[in-house]
Amino acid sequence: MIKFSEKVSLNQVRLDQILSEIKNDPMGGWYDLPENYDHEELEQIKAAARAINQNSEYLVCIGIGGSYLGHRALIEALAPTSPTKIIYAGNSLSARELQKSLDEIKDADFSINVISKSGTTIEPAIAFKAFKEKLIAKYGEAEASQRIYATTDANKGTLHDEAVAQDYTRFVVPDNIGGRYSVLTAVGLLPLAVAGVDVDELLKGALDFKNHPEPAYQYAFKRDELRRQAYDTEILATFEPSTASFNEWWKQLFGESEGKDGHGIFPASVVYSTDLHSLGQFLQDGRRNLFETILNFPTDDTNAKIVQAVEIAHKAGKIPVLNISPDEYSTKAFGELIYFFELACAISAKLDGVNPFDQPGVETYKAELKKLML
Ligand code: PA5
Repeated sequence: MIKFSEKVSLNQVRLDQILSEIKNDPMGGWYDLPENYDHEELEQIKAAARAINQNSEYLVCIGIGGSYLGHRALIEALAPTSPTKIIYAGNSLSARELQKSLDEIKDADFSINVISKSGTTIEPAIAFKAFKEKLIAKYGEAEASQRIYATTDANKGTLHDEAVAQDYTRFVVPDNIGGRYSVLTAVGLLPLAVAGVDVDELLKGALDFKNHPEPAYQYAFKRDELRRQAYDTEILATFEPSTASFNEWWKQLFGESEGKDGHGIFPASVVYSTDLHSLGQFLQDGRRNLFETILNFPTDDTNAKIVQAVEIAHKAGKIPVLNISPDEYSTKAFGELIYFFELACAISAKLDGVNPFDQPGVETYKAELKKLML
């Protein structure tokens, strides 16, 4: 299980009220997901993953934000083995990046998992068009359709409509779960299963944490306490380079959930020891508006010593240092961590008085981009 370093006195009445709001929120579907997921769909996901493993050297996962950060983080952290390599596209508008990923596949067999809840996001739409053309050129229209897996809304959106018309295999992003809370739905589970991650174990970890959620409450209330003391930036620190992308998932979760209406703690991250030799200077000695949260996996002796050294040094540098310690580095532990952070994030946002489940600010750039592209 996960241990959290601080003992904070919880306002139980406020906590109960927030938990009830989360459970009843139209976007609170992730809360019960670990015990309430669609078992039939999970079997279909596993079957699709087996088919992809049999016929594809590559699976191109096309999506942005919550539609890719979570599964990418877990695949990189867990480094499972699989006959199919996962590559990512549609998370920028860089023509160079797109060409690089098209070139990487060369003539190899591949399939596509296009993931977009709205089905209208421009970055994945452009990458999907390019990869679909490559797929059709290689296999012809009929087989190409069988190699496209669309994860999108159950009933609406451009991608949904195309998937129905072209008979792609479809998986659903549930109505009541937003992108950044969706890694334990088909959004994450299909790429994870293809990559060889034991998705049952992941869901089990999430359920275990849901049944013992106290550390998430402690973390949320501690963040609230620090925010009130004018600490406006949180640095998530990992000592495991393979969890660098997990930091990215965490940043999106907290950044989009809390940063609105002039509120929020700015989420930043570091990978140690690498960043001790770059941002380490600022952390030790720079402006004191930061607190640091160490993601402290069990580790070998030398790495454990550096965790200790950093904690002592940064506390001496007057940075509040929090410590989140999973008891193992495993699929199950990452399932626990996903749920830990989702729950803590939703509670934190509510303690700060903002809606954890919308992202009105993201729409502003989309509207500007659409105007420029018309
Ligand atoms: O967390 C979110 O809701 C967002 O980051 C979305 O995941 C992101 O904007 C992509 O949206 P969509 O899945 O609709 O393409």
